[in-house]
Amino acid sequence: MEIMRRKPVEQAIRDSEEPEHKLKKALGALDLTVFGIGVIIGTGIFVLTGQAAANYAGPGVAISFLVSGFACALAALCYAEFASTVPVAGSAYTFSYVGLGEFIAWLIGWDLILEFTVGAATVAKGWGGYLDSVLATLGLEIPAALSNSPVASAPDAPVGFFDLPAALIVVAMAMVLVVGITLSSRVNQVVTALKLLLVLAIIAIGVFYIDPQNLTPVIPPAEPGSYGETALSTPLFLQVFGIETTFGFLGIFTGAALVFFAYIGFDVVATTSEEARNPQRDLPIGILASLGICTVLYVVVSIILTGILPYDQLGGDAPVADALASTGLTGFNFIISLGILVGLTVVVMILLLGQSRVAFAMSRDNLLPRWFARVHPVYRTPYRLTIITAVVAALLTGFLPLNALGELVNIGTLAAFVLVSISVLVLRRSQPDLPRAFRAPLVPLLPIVSAAVSFLVMTFLPLETWLRFGAWMLLGVVVYFLYSKNASRLGRRQREGSANNDA
Ligand code: ALA
Repeated sequence: MEIMRRKPVEQAIRDSEEPEHKLKKALGALDLTVFGIGVIIGTGIFVLTGQAAANYAGPGVAISFLVSGFACALAALCYAEFASTVPVAGSAYTFSYVGLGEFIAWLIGWDLILEFTVGAATVAKGWGGYLDSVLATLGLEIPAALSNSPVASAPDAPVGFFDLPAALIVVAMAMVLVVGITLSSRVNQVVTALKLLLVLAIIAIGVFYIDPQNLTPVIPPAEPGSYGETALSTPLFLQVFGIETTFGFLGIFTGAALVFFAYIGFDVVATTSEEARNPQRDLPIGILASLGICTVLYVVVSIILTGILPYDQLGGDAPVADALASTGLTGFNFIISLGILVGLTVVVMILLLGQSRVAFAMSRDNLLPRWFARVHPVYRTPYRLTIITAVVAALLTGFLPLNALGELVNIGTLAAFVLVSISVLVLRRSQPDLPRAFRAPLVPLLPIVSAAVSFLVMTFLPLETWLRFGAWMLLGVVVYFLYSKNASRLGRRQREGSANNDA
């Protein structure tokens, strides 16, 4: 069947070598790890930790991090195997084009477009929160109308007309990306080091301000309650089982579904495989090392934050700043908030990069119009895609609230994890002899557990997130059948091939 057509691996590698669509190969193992950490540590740990603690999990948010970290570790092993087998741009999209056929690849690619574009918008939102906090320390304030979106994230949160600072940071980062990967990689190394230092400083200083009472009980007891004004805000799992409580044991999972956002990014390393000097060796290192380092840091930071402040006071836009402010260390708080601001900048940039690379691979295959895939004649970057992505992300971040954006990203990413895990299994069966520089252990058990755990976490996202995600994917299916299926380069090649054979 046409929609099941699979791209041969050799073809996928050859496509990436056409001169007008070729990217520069400039990244090594350390670059990739730094790249990973650069994008992983961001709005998730600096903002969503507080919200998950305040609304769902209390100090148990540290356990939430372990749960979603576990889901990511399993998916990371699958990603690493895939990435080391098919070293071309496009991440899970490309891998599944080879493994599972065009339609599934299209769905994953379409899903990743959502992940990265909305992800950049989400992180920009977190950036705006810390900008407000830094300015407030200086006695300055941006008018509420220009620093909040028209839709509030919580009933009593401020609303405005457009979140201008968040939109501007997206546009600024897109400009850096258009100029080139070498520059962005170098900037990223410096900023990632800074970000690691910040996190270590928060831990080293914060540990002295922990009040053990704030940490007990670790998991606040379940209490009757709702998640919002309508049933749409309730996690799917609770809805299905008719559970009407917040916090408690299940709160750990609701928290995990939110803080999952903090891990997003290790998969971005896989999207840059075409720019890696030695992808077979360096990609698995980059993916697994960045994920491992971040998991440890997240668990520790979340213990520190919930130890400094009672968890119900951590629900603001800049919880790290709130926790540090409560210690009276104003100068330290200012420096950390400023550092977070710089750190988040890079996350926005790399998510935009991931998006342009995925869409680049899709348009190179003609599943999206080929016009998008042209690289800049001087900078050799897919500038058209970068600019379009930035405009869309800027509008999203300007008009929508943080939680809605973050949850949409999470569901999209988890869905991609499920598909990637299954793909590993299928590819092992269908193409057992392909050289794999990295082989995931315990196949088939590991990919099966990976898909199941990611799906379980997905069920703890609100019903409305499921509906939004469903609508986006449905649109993807329509675009595929109306445009991509016929335009497909692989399809054309196959048709030409069979016409030649018939002649
Ligand atoms: N993981 C990244 C963040 O937390 C996307 O901001």
